[in-house]
This record gives sequence, structure tokens and C-alpha cells, in this order.
Amino acid sequence: MQIDILTIFPEMFEGAFKHSIIKRSQEKGIVQIRLHNIRDYATDKHKRVDDYQYGGGSGMVMMIDPIAKCIDKLTDDTKYDEVIFMTPDGEKLAQPLANRLSTYQNILILCGHYKGIDERIREKYITREISIGDYVLSGGELAAAVLTDSLVRLIPGVLNDETSALSDSFQNNLLSPPVYTRPYDYNGLKVPDVLLSGHDKEIENWRMNHALKRTKTRRPDLLTDEEHKE
Ligand code: ADE
Repeated sequence: MQIDILTIFPEMFEGAFKHSIIKRSQEKGIVQIRLHNIRDYATDKHKRVDDYQYGGGSGMVMMIDPIAKCIDKLTDDTKYDEVIFMTPDGEKLAQPLANRLSTYQNILILCGHYKGIDERIREKYITREISIGDYVLSGGELAAAVLTDSLVRLIPGVLNDETSALSDSFQNNLLSPPVYTRPYDYNGLKVPDVLLSGHDKEIENWRMNHALKRTKTRRPDLLTDEEHKE
């Protein structure tokens, strides 16, 4: 999968993409993440990417031209499955959307800043607008990093044990059950014995019961099945 990210702050991604699973996915050649600095496409001598908004009001708006030039150049060589704009007024990111995007070959993610981007970019180029939650960030970069992480880990071959993405919270509308590792006894706090029993079926039942219990108490809204709610 190729992910092209358009931003005026490419440095913001360094920490997020140079560690752990995302780093490994790139090293394995499963994912290519390319960062594009929108400022490189500004044509005036000050490399301006923003301007005052028509009609007045506080806050600058990202201009069409540098963004359009950057997208036009990329679409010359690549056909994108989605051209995504990260914005608090977009569709809320949840697991089903991450699952779907993780099956695509090429996606482009545009990060906004300041008061927003000129609406005509949204009209002309954007195929999907995504929010990571009902709060406003200073820009789309952190949101783009969250989106990228959420879908890269789902691509086959990225996680060593592929089933572990399938058993994530939300994959079956359930939160994950508790997990434990050594030591068995930590100052009197013990691991539930069933997990040491070696009985696969009992362990599976225990996990399912605890996933359900946790979901009922913490996120009952996830349980659509009436009998689960009882
Ligand atoms: N940009 C600013 N806030 C955002 C949010 N909550 N989600 C996506 N992009 C954003």
C-alpha cells in the first residue's frame, strides 16, 4: 500500500512513523509512506501557503494553488482509491472504516491547518473527509498519523500474528478481555487460574465472557444484539 501525506509540517510524522509496527511495515516493503511538503509547491518568493479569508474573520485559510499543484503532480503518476481530508467535520473514524481503507492500494491524505483549507479543494479533489473525534486539533497531522496507524496494522503481513488484529477491541463490536503476563503472583495479585489451565475451550469461554462483561459496563452502545444487553 502506498500512502501519500500532504502537510506543511512533515517533521510531525517522524516520531510516529519511525517506530514499532509502522516502521517494520515500511522495512518489510508492505507499506510506502511518502510525505510531501505543501510549501514546496508554493510559487511566490515567500513560499506562502495561507491567506486571509474572504468576508473577513479571524484565522488564515490554506490557499488552493500549492495544494492543487501537489495533488495534480501526484495524480499524474498514481491513481488513488481515496483522496482523504482530515477534518473535525468529517465522518468519524471507527474500526469498519479502518478495515475498509486497509484493503486499498493507494491513498492520499491531506492535512489542513489554520482555519481550514479553501473549500474549492474539497469540492474538486477530496473523495472522503475523516474526523478522529469530536474535538479540534491544531492541524490534521496527528489525525493523519492516527488514521495511518489504524489501517497499516490491519494489512496482512504487517503484524507477525495476523490473528491479533482480528482479536482487537471493536473488531466484533466487543472490547478486548483483560490480558496477563508473568509473574503469576504479583504481591498477592494473581492471574485467573483458567488462563493457566491449558483448556483452550475454557480459556476461549472465559475471554468471551469477560469481553462481553467489559463491553456491557463500559460501552453498552456497542452491543446491538438484544440478548447481549441483558
Ligand atoms: N483536524 C483538526 N481536528 C481534527 C479532528 N478532530 N479530526 C481530524 N482532523 C482534524
